[in-house]
Amino acid sequence: MRKIYIHPLPIRIWHWLNALGIILLILTGLQIRYTGLFDVISFRNAVILHNWVGFLVGANFLLWLLFYLFSNRISVYQPELNSKKYFAAMFRQVYFYAYGILRGEANPYRVTPAAKFNPMQAMTYQIVMLLLLPMQFYTGVLLWDATGFAGQIDMLGGIRVISTIHVLLSIAFIGFLMSHLYLITLGHSFFAHSKGMVTGYEEVEDETKPKETTSFRVDRDSP
Ligand code: HEM
Repeated sequence: MRKIYIHPLPIRIWHWLNALGIILLILTGLQIRYTGLFDVISFRNAVILHNWVGFLVGANFLLWLLFYLFSNRISVYQPELNSKKYFAAMFRQVYFYAYGILRGEANPYRVTPAAKFNPMQAMTYQIVMLLLLPMQFYTGVLLWDATGFAGQIDMLGGIRVISTIHVLLSIAFIGFLMSHLYLITLGHSFFAHSKGMVTGYEEVEDETKPKETTSFRVDRDSP
């Protein structure tokens, strides 16, 4: 194995703050929605904490966005622009996670610093970061000041529509988090990917070294 640097420091800082923030938002959101069922802190404190963490996660999102906009790392999110090749690679990856991995087959994707995401990751992370997170933030801000944003809320169908979208998106986040937590355990060891998000380095197979082969030497002189 050899180590390659794939998660620069700003991304690691963003990621762990974001993970902590999203988990806190899910917990406080559950408490706000199901008062009486979850009573870890008071309703009022849950609302205050939810609002603060929501704005911090929103500000932290800018760290992720600005890093990718102003560094040369944006390539990790656009691995293949030819849609035919892209979907072929995507289906290879889905096949691997659904079946190939159970048969002990090798991961069809080779990680490099410029293309660290397989097609499934690139697609999912883009949906989460560029669609779900901004939509969740926007609907959250509308709910935070429903009087101030009454005009926009009415235009979008009313407060019930906005709050339903906010709840549906949070269900999508819980679903994403569960599959994310499962998929990150599928590296060459259980914690390999998580370690990578802490140190920045991921261990990949060294393809420059010749593979070890078992050779049988027949020694003609031996008895
Ligand atoms: C305790 C919870 C979490 C753990 C242990 C975790 C772990 C990881 C690991 C190991 C990676 C690198 C492997 C990979 O690229 O697939 C990663 C990447 C990523 N995770 Fe998480 N994650 C957590 C929560 C979250 C949450 C809540 C979100 C978003 C809502 C999220 C979004 C992402 C994104 C977008 C990336 C790619 C980052 C980039 O390099 O641009 N993660 N996560």
